[in-house]
Amino acid sequence: MADSPTATSSGPLPITCWAGPAVFIAVAITVLAFFWWFLSSPSAAPEDQALQVETLREQLAPVGKMLVTKAEPGTGVANVIVGGEAVYQSACAVCHATGIAGAPQLGDQELWRDRAAAGVEALYGNAINGFQGATGVMPPRGGNAALNKAEVRSAVDYMLAALQ
Ligand code: HEC
Repeated sequence: MADSPTATSSGPLPITCWAGPAVFIAVAITVLAFFWWFLSSPSAAPEDQALQVETLREQLAPVGKMLVTKAEPGTGVANVIVGGEAVYQSACAVCHATGIAGAPQLGDQELWRDRAAAGVEALYGNAINGFQGATGVMPPRGGNAALNKAEVRSAVDYMLAALQ
């Protein structure tokens, strides 16, 4: 009986057979060791976290100062009225500066004529509640739910003033 022509080797398995699993196991051990190290490493001490928050606050302070233009004394942060131009820049310009997604562009009298003719109250309402018009979707408060109605109105005023 002759050997079958395909069975050529009967010695130990060739190196390529176990090199794959060995590499796999090595990688698995490395990953597990990393997770163990990650989970067991102590998190930052509370005083370090406080310091981080403080640093962050200092870094963000200029932005807050830029936006808050008029604070009523004694009314608290929630009632701070932010100036129309600042609201526009932070929440509306992303669409209205270039007219992206069908938004009427700031200062374009042609695009704003009919809208303005509907009256400023209608514009306030549409800016606050959002609406789907002929050219696109205006999200409620420009998509920034943190804005109060007075802030949205002041941004609309700013946009209307830009038409003159
Ligand atoms: C995601 C893009 C987007 C952002 C952000 C955005 N708008 Fe608009 N806005 C639109 C689009 C689109 C329209 C036009 C919708 C239409 O008429 O089809 C529109 C229309 C308007 C109109 C006209 C309303 C009318 O009755 O015709 C006003 C006023 C307005 N936006 C105010 C604002 C204000 C104020 C902000 C910021 C607080 C803002 N928008 C942010 C997309 C945006």
